[in-house]
Amino acid sequence: MTQKQTLTVRDNRTGDEYELDITDGTIRASDVGKIGKSDEEPGLAVYDPGFTNTASTRSAVTYIDGDRGILEYRGYPIEQLAESSTFLEVAYLLIHGELPTREQHDQWVHDITFHTFVHEDIKTVMRGFRYDAHPMGMLLSSVGALSTFYPEARNIKDPQIRHEQIVRLIAKMPTLGAWSFRHAQGKPYVYPDNDLTYTENFLSMLFKMSEQKYEPDPRLSKALEVLFILHADHEQNCSTNAVRSVGSSQVDPYSALSAGIAALYGPLHGGANEAVLRMLKRIKTKDNVPAFIEGVKNGDERLMGFGHRVYKNYDPRAKIIKKATEDVFEVTGVNPLLEVAQELEKIALEDEYFVSRKLYPNVDFYSGLIYEALQFPPEMFTVLFAIPRTAGWLAQWLELVDDPEQKIARPKQIYTGERQLDFVPAAQRWS
Ligand code: CMC
Repeated sequence: MTQKQTLTVRDNRTGDEYELDITDGTIRASDVGKIGKSDEEPGLAVYDPGFTNTASTRSAVTYIDGDRGILEYRGYPIEQLAESSTFLEVAYLLIHGELPTREQHDQWVHDITFHTFVHEDIKTVMRGFRYDAHPMGMLLSSVGALSTFYPEARNIKDPQIRHEQIVRLIAKMPTLGAWSFRHAQGKPYVYPDNDLTYTENFLSMLFKMSEQKYEPDPRLSKALEVLFILHADHEQNCSTNAVRSVGSSQVDPYSALSAGIAALYGPLHGGANEAVLRMLKRIKTKDNVPAFIEGVKNGDERLMGFGHRVYKNYDPRAKIIKKATEDVFEVTGVNPLLEVAQELEKIALEDEYFVSRKLYPNVDFYSGLIYEALQFPPEMFTVLFAIPRTAGWLAQWLELVDDPEQKIARPKQIYTGERQLDFVPAAQRWS
């Protein structure tokens, strides 16, 4: 039997000692709250802006070891999934916790495929946006609007109803994402083609014009499949935390996911690959790389696409994406900025500044190059992230809904404002 682990804390204000249980390397905030608690005083609390050292949940979905550069979905290494699985199989794995049997897989793919269409009124909602609306703004609004089309979705305790919304969301995200792209181009929206695979259908809805049937190059749909697998989940990041936080109010999953999309919209989260592309364009040629690196070392700016809050090693997703760039460029021709990116990586990986700070390429370093080669404008990059992340958000949302330990998210604050001022009515203050 393993020995119970505890932490002894002495409150130097009173001399009282407390023994706190340590479970899975954590202490309970509620146990900390017993320290110094009396009828007059609240107990001690923990101050942690940005939750940098606070576990908000127990989760069996995604494992990350940032020091070793390990990422696993439900225990399966990301490298193996990217190499040999499909996005829909990975989505099943994330949602259900295990790989599907053949029958389960076929049923799952069938269900997702036959829910790709959206109500025509959603099209009207999307048409109402300005001609140059940002596709992420359109996506988050239209996903939120879906809750009004499926009011039964609010019955989040009913497993069958939950399952139906999960299928709908995974199925409809490519349709909504593609339509938000077509909208900005003034092109007609393309309906789903259910003969195609998930990524093929997405490419068809993005790029089909007058041809009878759109047939994407299999190397492109495969590359997109790999990118979708890599972006499917990443444990308790900002958008997942938003989904869980909003979902903890027991709202329907469409509303909870639109909060996740809103969080992803922000430049600190989903927008870094766009910044990488802008940086590469500015550097322009391989010869300008040494001077740029010097500027980074002098603190003038950051090398975008390098460094990560969690990974202090090569981001495992970056390695896989680097390989996918080769497959895409075989079809589209090499993006001349690849040479600049490779030179940056080569120099940075040898330079003491980056080595000592454990700064390695992250997932965004190469993905922007692929997206640009596929002719996506930068505003679409985050939409390409949101579509696959839907599977992860839903897996995390399901876990939340079934977790008896979870409560409505409601952090504490340290109040820094005034107290007990006397209100003077406007007529007196302004006279
Ligand atoms: N270029 C140059 N220096 C850097 C960089 C960089 N990209 N990232 C960190 N540093 C330096 C930083 O200046 C600091 O140096 P010092 O100790 O001398 O002050 C040290 O490294 C530690 O940096 P930090 O800001 O404390 O690290 P963090 O964990 O808070 O930041 C980060 C993580 C991702 C915000 C940061 O590395 C960064 O800004 N990178 C560039 C933006 C980027 O590529 N973001 C995409 C992240 S991956 C997307 C995802 O998974 O969702």
